[in-house]
Amino acid sequence: MGRRYDPRSVAGRRTNLALLVLLAGALVTGALAFAIGTGGGRWAVIVHGVVGLGIVALAPWKSVIARRGLRRGRGGRWASVVLAALVALTVATGVLHATGILVRVGGLTAMQVHVGAALVGLPFALWHVVARRVRPRRADLSRRALLRAGLLAGGSVLSYGALEAVVHVTGLPGVDRRFTGSHESGSFDPAAMPVTQWLDDAVPTIDEPEWRLAVSGPAGLAVASLALADLEGHDDRVTAVLDCTGGWFAEQEWSGVRLDRLLWEAGRAVGVRSVLVRSATGYSRRFPIEDAARLFLATRVGGRPLSAGHGRPARLVAPGRRGFWWVKWVTEVEVGTTPWWWQPPFPLT
Ligand code: HEM
Ligand code: HEM
Repeated sequence: MGRRYDPRSVAGRRTNLALLVLLAGALVTGALAFAIGTGGGRWAVIVHGVVGLGIVALAPWKSVIARRGLRRGRGGRWASVVLAALVALTVATGVLHATGILVRVGGLTAMQVHVGAALVGLPFALWHVVARRVRPRRADLSRRALLRAGLLAGGSVLSYGALEAVVHVTGLPGVDRRFTGSHESGSFDPAAMPVTQWLDDAVPTIDEPEWRLAVSGPAGLAVASLALADLEGHDDRVTAVLDCTGGWFAEQEWSGVRLDRLLWEAGRAVGVRSVLVRSATGYSRRFPIEDAARLFLATRVGGRPLSAGHGRPARLVAPGRRGFWWVKWVTEVEVGTTPWWWQPPFPLT
């Protein structure tokens, strides 16, 4: 084919380039969908669905390219086949979750499989675009090419709308999902609320009489060491939704102590910008200091002590933030001068 004009190869290149844009878009909007905790971010979840269905819309064209490529018998083609399988699994679990047809698969949620397959697929996708390189050309921005891109975008929006319409008309469980895409599970019934940890975190064994909450100021300056009874002397209450990135949410009444009450002394130092909340497992998240009046260290949920899986003896309640901010088994609260954003957007362990 060389450099001569061949309509099939031109169309093939543009299909691949469109897939590249959509894959990158799915990763970015997927990450945004995980970061949002308030309704203002719902557009990220919708755009994510549209972009994901756009990948499906290109499947007929891509399968022509893939079959031609497989016939060439180049080395490494197995990696492209693995990529195809992982993208198919990602899309399938995304749709199963969104429609609510299958929210749980054994001990995992469809959403965990969805994100897991996407992340495992990432190195394969990177290899694929380097090994099967496509060079963009000026003509890829021609009017006709942009018109096609517009058709693809329109088709993807329509597919998303059609899928949502089917969910509504048939009354599939997806109809009740939250703006984050999460399904309700165990609201006002803490015993029925799922127990999940971030990545490899595990429920620690805590000896409650020995348990202490260390409160410290800048540079680790110890301010207080509190026992459980000290926390239980407070009865601040908040009704808040715990929305897990595993794809479920539950609304509960939490009680305990508002964080700013514990920080009064530690927070008086000049230049204080953030508060770090650390778990007995080493897991931690950092918050802007202004949020301390909206954060709670809960010892009870639904009027009863927390279960071990839900963070006993004390866990953070962070209304408007996704579950990975709600640190469990808290042992340390440290006020500091580090800005809150000085941490990975998602915990690494
Ligand atoms: C949804 C994501 C994608 C899947 C599942 C996928 C899958 C495949 C498969 C199975 C093949 C045939 C085996 C091979 O040649 O290794 C292939 C070929 C190819 N892919 Fe992809 N691919 C994807 C995205 C992309 C992207 C983003 C690009 C470039 C920007 C690309 C460029 C190519 C090229 C140039 C070929 C070779 C075609 C030929 O030899 O005629 N692919 N792809
Ligand atoms: C190649 C990468 C990905 C593809 C192709 C993809 C595709 C999809 C598709 C097709 C859906 C169903 C949308 C619907 O029918 O409404 C979906 C849902 C979802 N995806 Fe992904 N996804 C990818 C990566 C990710 C990542 C990395 C995350 C998070 C870090 C993520 C989070 C979500 C969430 C939260 C939903 C639920 C949306 C809802 O319920 O409306 N996705 N995805």
